[in-house]
Amino acid sequence: MPATLVIGMQWGDEAKGKIVDILAHDHDYVVRFNGGDNAGHTIRSGGVTFKLHLVPSGVMYPDKPKVIANGVVVNLKTLLAEMKEVEAAGYPLKSLAISESAHIIMPWHIVLDGIEDERGGIGTTKKGIGPAYADKAARVTAIRMADLLLGELELREKIERIGAIKNSIIEALGGEAVDAAKIAEETAASARVIRPYIKDTRFMLNDALAKGKRVLLEGAQGGLLDVDHGTYPYVTSSNMTAGGACTGTGIPPSKIDKVVGVAKAYTTRVGSGPFPTELTDETGEKIRQKGAEFGTTTGRPRRCGWLDLVVLRYTAMLNCPDELALIKLDVLDGMKELKACTEYEMEGTGRKTKQFPSDINALAKMKPVYKSFKGWPAFDWKSVKGRKGLPKEMQEYLSFIEKETGVPIKFVSYGPAREETLVLD
Ligand code: IMP
Repeated sequence: MPATLVIGMQWGDEAKGKIVDILAHDHDYVVRFNGGDNAGHTIRSGGVTFKLHLVPSGVMYPDKPKVIANGVVVNLKTLLAEMKEVEAAGYPLKSLAISESAHIIMPWHIVLDGIEDERGGIGTTKKGIGPAYADKAARVTAIRMADLLLGELELREKIERIGAIKNSIIEALGGEAVDAAKIAEETAASARVIRPYIKDTRFMLNDALAKGKRVLLEGAQGGLLDVDHGTYPYVTSSNMTAGGACTGTGIPPSKIDKVVGVAKAYTTRVGSGPFPTELTDETGEKIRQKGAEFGTTTGRPRRCGWLDLVVLRYTAMLNCPDELALIKLDVLDGMKELKACTEYEMEGTGRKTKQFPSDINALAKMKPVYKSFKGWPAFDWKSVKGRKGLPKEMQEYLSFIEKETGVPIKFVSYGPAREETLVLD
């Protein structure tokens, strides 16, 4: 039985957690495969809300195994606090498994992220993501989940040795050294709690698939934050395009038979970097307020703009989704006119392109070419059954998105709760 992949089609914050929560109903395993606690996945059902950063969004289904796979970088403190919160709310996590190959975000990664970002960085979440993935690739000073299975003395020695190396870098950069002995002690204490959850998740997941179980792969962030295909360097440090689900879990591509792309009905991004359809005017502010566009992880106001179909066509090419989930469509209710960018015009040249540029300097020069749509009045979403029950102006907007991306819209979401979702025929 193959796997389903849920992937972000923009700059993250597309509300993938909500779609994962809905799809989890028909799957047996829910798996996070990339990123770390820079991600914030909100799920809400039956009056219960979780804002998760690491635990997969399948928490509302206590009996379904949840996996933090090898592609994730794990902050132990965040993970333990989150596990405690979820369990205290009455959702047991005994079925949680964490890959022994997942890397750990150590306190020095967070310090270094802060120092480096303040010296002209990209506006990271300051969660230590970049430095942790850098250590993973560099291979010398990384600490993985498997290290938590070492004898306590050996674990402490390793942490203190690496801590000393990191402190020399921190001090050279003018930062304040971390207390490596204390970190070693705290990590050893966390290890005692986390050890039973550490597994070889590659075999676990492939065995599950071989037995006919259905696996749901939950991507964090969105395609334009992908370290290879996003708006580099204004990206995060892992792969959130479809291939990242394979390297991040050990599940081969031939086992993924369905991809669900999640996109907002408009565009947002946090942090710096070019954003062609950004609205810095009253309309942008209106979308921000109505859409509550403030980061789940850092609380930063998100930059808001019109839907960018150059972006969606690009991420559709990279991910080849079978269907789309369009989120926060209700935020556009009651607007007189709305716009969607169909192509870019290069400033000063008049040259038009439908291709998303790989170079951010070129992207920064792109001006959006818009198609205007007549808005639709506010209406009672709950009384709507299928696509035909939606305002005809909205149906036109949806059809245009489908035509431009070549992907059918299966879900539209009009609120944060699981119930506030319409499945389109
Ligand atoms: P980092 O992942 O903390 O290194 O941040 C790198 C860039 O990715 C910054 O612009 C962040 O704002 C952005 N970013 C990281 N995680 C998310 C997310 O979950 N949603 C939206 N943006 C994110």
